[in-house]
Formats: sequence, C-alpha cells, structure tokens
Amino acid sequence: MGIHAVTGSASGMGAATAAVLREAGHTVIGVDLRDADVIADLGTAEGRAAAVAAVLEASGGVLDGVAAVAGVGPSLKDAGAVASINYFGPTALLDGLRPALARSAAGRAVVIGSNSASTVPMIDQTLADLLLAGDEDAARTHARAAQAGVPAELAAASPSISAYATSKFALARWVRRTAVRPEWAREGVLLNVIAPGAVVTPLMLGATGRAEDLDADAFPTPMPLGVFGTPEDIAFWVHQFLRPEARFTTGATLYVDGGTDAAMRPDGQ
Ligand code: NAI
Repeated sequence: MGIHAVTGSASGMGAATAAVLREAGHTVIGVDLRDADVIADLGTAEGRAAAVAAVLEASGGVLDGVAAVAGVGPSLKDAGAVASINYFGPTALLDGLRPALARSAAGRAVVIGSNSASTVPMIDQTLADLLLAGDEDAARTHARAAQAGVPAELAAASPSISAYATSKFALARWVRRTAVRPEWAREGVLLNVIAPGAVVTPLMLGATGRAEDLDADAFPTPMPLGVFGTPEDIAFWVHQFLRPEARFTTGATLYVDGGTDAAMRPDGQ
C-alpha cells in the first residue's frame, strides 16, 4: 500500500479523497489549515515550505501520490490571496515533493483545477503570465488592482471571479508544461488535472446557500446531467489517477463537471 499526501484534507473533496485512499488501505498525510496531520497555510511561501518539510518527514522521503486539492473559491474578497492559494499553493508543493514522488516505483500527482478555467469568459492573460512566470508579488498586486474590473452584478457574490478562473487556467497550463519535463515524465511521475464543475461542498455552499435549495436546472451554468457533484464523485477520479496502473496519461485535464464544459463549449477540445 502507498503513502499519499492530500492537501485540503479537512473538508469537501480533499476529505473525500483522504477517505477513499484510507479505505483502499493507503497511508494518508493530510495537509490543511486545521484538522490535519500537517497544519500549514499554503497561501504563503513559508507555509508551503513548512508543509513540504513536514510531508517529507512524515513520509520518510518517499511518496506514491500527491493530491493537491486545497483551494478557495471566487467568493473570497482578496483576489491576491486567491492567486497565492490556488496557483502557488499546489505548484510549489508539487515542485517540493517531486523528488519524493520520483523515489516511488509509480509516483502520481493530481491537481484540482476547475472548469471555470474554460467556461468563465474572464481570464486575465496578464495575471496568467505573472503566475506562470512565478512572480507571486506582482501577481498578487495585479490581481487586486484588476478586481475593480469585475462587473458589479458579479462582484457582490464573486468578487474574485476573474482571479479565481485565471488561477485555475494558469494551474492547468502549468501542469501541461511541467508534466512533460524529463524530471517528471522520465522519472515516472505522472501529473494530471481534474477540473470539477459545481460540487456541493462548504466552498460552493458559501456562495450559493443551503444544499436543499439548490436546483441544477436553475443554476447559472448548464448542468446537462441535472445533478450537482458530490465530493465523492471527484475523489473517485483522483483515486484512479493515483493508481500505479494509471500509467499512460500525463499532462491531461479531465472534466468531472456533469457535462457543463461540453455544453458550453461543444466544439472545444
Ligand atoms: P472546501 O472549502 O470544502 O475545502 C477546501 C479545503 O482547502 C478546506 O479544508 C480549506 O481549509 C483548505 N484550504 C483553503 N485554503 C487553504 C490554505 N491557504 N492552506 C491550506 N489549506 C487551505 O472546498 P472544495 O469545494 O472541496 O474545494 C476543493 C478544490 O476544488 C479547491 O481547489 C476548489 O477551488 C476546487 N473547486 C471547487 C468547486 C466546487 O464547486 N466546490 C468547483 C471547481 C473547483
């Protein structure tokens, strides 16, 4: 059985992922702001460095899987924090843990992106470029300044919608660029993205209200399957990507969104 690190393990998809892995007999090192084996703030450089060090110590320097699930949603008021948590959180953690994954016979990493990267028409290319260039200070400053451009009707509930979608857009692009590098691909460490749609978790309910009031057919984005996702729907696919048998897919994005992306972009890739 393997040793897996799961960020965001205290809630939602991360908690469901940790549960599925434990159920399968694996050891899980949970990382979160609270209620986790490793307590760390992935929104800061110090927190990420501490998380990497603590996971390496807990795992003995060999990891079979990393699920980078922790993240925030577009309702967070500070777009700079969204950029830091959603982009630099997973990318720095994965860079730091890659050598431990390379020591496994079948190292696997999964990042939770979002279908917002392709369905929200508010990608900020300047912010994406700053994120991909690794300039966190400039990205935070730009994201905050650009928040003023979010239309008023969106700004009330989703003040950081553009930074949110852009952070997930850049994250998926980082995965494509990174997964094929020799130090990942030729070391047998596979790296993929899952792009969820609307999944009923505390993050989503914080923006939409009570679960019992949710109606998939009245949701602002199309929900072809007529249902919202559960954390377990995402955890199932995270688990598949982390299996040693998942050995011929890297740099890919899998939409687990009830068909939203296909409905909105029928001719997209
Ligand atoms: P959630 O709020 O239930 O869980 C997120 C977890 O991440 C929490 O335990 C939280 O404490 C942790 N976290 C947040 N900021 C952190 C930080 N700075 N350092 C360490 N841990 C931190 O949310 P959910 O829905 O399970 O979100 C999981 C991922 O899925 C996130 O990356 C989110 O952006 C993404 N997502 C969620 C969607 C949804 O509809 N729920 C849709 C698409 C993507």
